[in-house]
Amino acid sequence: MAFFSFKRSAKIFFVFALFSTSHLVSFAADIQVGKAKAEVCNSCHGPNGNSLNPEIPALAGMPALAISNLLFFYREGNRKNPIMTPMAANLTNAEMKDIAAYYAAQTRQTMHQTSPVNLATGPALATKYNCTQCHGPQLQGLQHIPRISGQQKEYLITQLKGFKAGTRADMDGNMTSAATNLNENDIAILSDYLAGLADRPTP
Ligand code: HEC
Ligand code: HEC
Repeated sequence: MAFFSFKRSAKIFFVFALFSTSHLVSFAADIQVGKAKAEVCNSCHGPNGNSLNPEIPALAGMPALAISNLLFFYREGNRKNPIMTPMAANLTNAEMKDIAAYYAAQTRQTMHQTSPVNLATGPALATKYNCTQCHGPQLQGLQHIPRISGQQKEYLITQLKGFKAGTRADMDGNMTSAATNLNENDIAILSDYLAGLADRPTP
């Protein structure tokens, strides 16, 4: 067990070393190259990464580092999924960075309408459980931490239940700890609240 944890943290260190300092030794990510590479991805992740499928996460407006890390975890097998594991298997680090830069530059849009009661109670829950502390004041993600505002509701519910159950891969255990305190009702309220938050409020 100790050996396993050591291996795991060594790999995580490698991820941060790879993606946070690589700008020192390589050229900046290319959004245009990323856009071309992401065409196949958008067939599932939606126009410009704004997913129209409740089970498939949106990628638009997610921090680039979060996206490239998530792809790296699929490729290296830390996070497993029958659809995404093969999709990430052949991507190089440079391709991941280009694709991530492209998605990070897109505007997050959502058609989701949060119920009035969850719109009123959601913000207090997000503060109480420190979601805003890690995912950012607008919940738009921060560096390696994924964006959760304007995310697909069903996807959010599945992930939060997965963290709580210990079945969703977690790079540092922080999110698993954060989810242990949530009950089913909290998860339902937070997911409905988060899903309705877009870059620009719907008029
Ligand atoms: C056939 C549909 C499909 C295609 C094509 C696809 N994805 Fe995915 N993607 C998914 C699904 C479903 C998930 C959620 C999987 C899970 O629960 O782990 C996902 C998850 C992801 C995630 C994790 C997002 C998060 O918020 O945790 C990233 C990043 C991602 N995909 C990027 C890509 C990229 C880049 C491509 C193209 C190279 C791509 N996907 C192609 C269906 C697809
Ligand atoms: C201590 C920091 C921390 C706190 C507090 C925290 N998170 Fe997270 N969260 C993370 C990190 C780090 C990840 C990325 C985990 C990974 O993919 O390995 C994450 C991932 C997630 C994901 C999956 C996103 C995706 O795209 O797959 C969801 C959903 C989420 N958090 C929701 C929440 C909610 C809701 C709260 C408040 C109840 C919360 N988080 C509190 C750090 C935190």
